[in-house]
Amino acid sequence: MIIKRVARAKINLCLHVIGQRSDGYHLLDSVVAFAEYGDVLTFAPSESVTLSINGPFGDGLSGTGDNLILQAARCFDRKNGQGAAIHLEKNLPVASGIGGGSADAAAALVGLSELWELPLPDPEKQLALGADVPICVAGQPLRMRGIGEVIEPLELDQDHPMVLVNPNVSVATPKIFKALNNKDNPAVIDGPQTGWIDWLAKQRNDLQAPAIAHSPVIANVLQALKQTAPMLSRMSGSGATCFGLYQTDNAAQEAALRLSARHPDWWIQTTRLTT
Ligand code: C5P
Repeated sequence: MIIKRVARAKINLCLHVIGQRSDGYHLLDSVVAFAEYGDVLTFAPSESVTLSINGPFGDGLSGTGDNLILQAARCFDRKNGQGAAIHLEKNLPVASGIGGGSADAAAALVGLSELWELPLPDPEKQLALGADVPICVAGQPLRMRGIGEVIEPLELDQDHPMVLVNPNVSVATPKIFKALNNKDNPAVIDGPQTGWIDWLAKQRNDLQAPAIAHSPVIANVLQALKQTAPMLSRMSGSGATCFGLYQTDNAAQEAALRLSARHPDWWIQTTRLTT
């Protein structure tokens, strides 16, 4: 039996930083949804746990030691001889604000729980792997609060064609949080039942300004996306990946073509935001 899971890219449609805990972690209020596109993980029965990696962003990633997928495997109370040959096809840029490591860890938790017929590790263990792991395990549109432990499922009105753009810079999340001037921004107010895009357009990503200060090219990405007339465009997480949402698949494909022609060195991926 081989189990396959897609570790879908996590998109923060808005991300408000509304406070800071005494341990330094920031309190967030964010509307999150997932892309169809992501890393692909497979799990096959084996006597020990091993990890192999390929894919466009696999180079330089270690399949040993502290890889989050192996850390996820260590969260289970497995029996002697219960192992897994895990393979990761790394399609998402690393340290790019769209889940990456957390999405892989979440896919590993769900895939291994199925392979080993063991319960999913509890939410605290998931959160200890990475603040975005529980939301990636949930894998559906949601509002997240706290540092990621308070999860409220949401219904967004419809799927949207989406273009993801990363200017090939990796961003270290702690640096961006440290550079935040204002840590007490207003929270997300409750969203509407319909008309989510209009509502989201009025929200913010509070990490966008410090991320641009760290990597000014993010401002160029946002400007280039704006020129393709998306319904909504914004940076996700702590960057540098930005997203544009479009009315039709054609509009998204045209936007991606235009962006690739002007910026052949950027990572540009057409996908859908799933609801
Ligand atoms: O938990 P994760 O590994 O994703 O977080 C990386 C770092 O980002 C944390 O060590 C912390 O410095 C910062 N962070 C934060 N507030 C959050 C999430 C992350 O300050 N809510």
